[in-house]
Amino acid sequence: MSLITTAPKGTQDILPERSHIWRHIESTLLDTARLYGFEQMRTPTFEHTELFLRSVGETTDVVSKEMYTFTDKGNRSITLRPEGTAGVARAALERGLLAGALPVRVSYLINCFRYENKQKMRYREFNQFGVELYGTVLPQADVEIISLAYECYRVLGLGGVSIQLNSLGCAKCRPNYQRALLEYLNNYRDELCGTCHERMEKNPLRILDCKVPACKNITKSAPTMLEHLCKDCIAHLDEVKTMLTTLKIPFVVNPRIVRGLDYYTRTVFECVLKDTAGDEIVVGGGGRYSGLISELGGADCEGIGFALGIERIEHMLNDLNLCPKRPSICKVYIAPMDKSSQMLGLELIHRLRGCGISAQTDIMGKSLKAQMKYADKLSADFTVVIGENEILSKTAVMRNMSDGTTYSIPLDDGFVDAVREII
Ligand code: HAM
Repeated sequence: MSLITTAPKGTQDILPERSHIWRHIESTLLDTARLYGFEQMRTPTFEHTELFLRSVGETTDVVSKEMYTFTDKGNRSITLRPEGTAGVARAALERGLLAGALPVRVSYLINCFRYENKQKMRYREFNQFGVELYGTVLPQADVEIISLAYECYRVLGLGGVSIQLNSLGCAKCRPNYQRALLEYLNNYRDELCGTCHERMEKNPLRILDCKVPACKNITKSAPTMLEHLCKDCIAHLDEVKTMLTTLKIPFVVNPRIVRGLDYYTRTVFECVLKDTAGDEIVVGGGGRYSGLISELGGADCEGIGFALGIERIEHMLNDLNLCPKRPSICKVYIAPMDKSSQMLGLELIHRLRGCGISAQTDIMGKSLKAQMKYADKLSADFTVVIGENEILSKTAVMRNMSDGTTYSIPLDDGFVDAVREII
């Protein structure tokens, strides 16, 4: 067989054998967020390109190198969302969510698109679970988001996650830091990559996030924002640290966390896990943003949130043997022995399904032996063989496939109740 094409690079097909793991991750995350008051919202997969230019920032790798941007038939520049914060903020503003009672808490499950180069756990289409909280400058909000992030990992069995915390300062203290950083980087100007030369003019902070090894090496010893925070930013960070300690949420301060998106101010954090191959996997990240809502045309409104990568969570659950068992897709398999019992088989599974019990019967004209093999492949919990005798006597034998126990069940009106009592 030669296929005309294969899945595009950096994409995945989630086959049925993995879908229960995704369902488990997604429902656990949504339910955990609901405990904290976050309700799910959905936004479009694509947005006008300018949304990401203005929010994520033109000099970030995400915008300058990784966006899937195209011109649509109406000559508009459209981009497949590379992340969720910008689209959710746009929707919250456009739909008046921020004009009502604050704070507003929302969650989302989305697919995102980044033209990434092949690397472990970097996909071109990937999925995020995220939350955003709007309306308060107080550090309590930072703590709420970080504690929710921690709880999401903990309930999935990933309580060993390392939460790495930093502050990126505010409009008041960042220019001083920028000056100190430029002064340092000027000493290494010739060794920086071409993109970083441009960044020195446009947005020096982005150099700290450059993936080119030479630039990475230089920025290792660069001054940090933490050393240049203003009084208010120091107080904010101290309060966040104190409250996290009180709540016994483990964290470490890592002054090298800079994040790859431009909108952050003050608190930023990343969530890191080590897999059994020894690789550090950044399973989530987030932070506060003070200017984003006004940048998009709204009134001043603080926001803070985080997002985690579902593929990376699945990788860690697999790696640590924490995936739930695949549930049976078929509680009862009804195997008709001959043509005359096929109609009864259809009728019985119809009744079971109508009462919420998963059931299947033969729809391929298979022999009894082949049907039993198929029921085994489905991991059916129970089987019922029906033929002429069963139709005449209006009773059949239901077999528990894991321990071989058999039960006599009526095939008349009492069928579903009898099955329900056994399963
Ligand atoms: P981010 O750090 O760019 O933040 O992405 C969040 C998470 O998505 C990452 O920690 C990682 O687990 C996952 N992720 C990112 N890129 C890929 C990829 N190419 N393949 C697989 N997984 C990936 C944001 O997107 C922000 N919007 C988070 C946020 C929400 N900040 C405030 N609110």
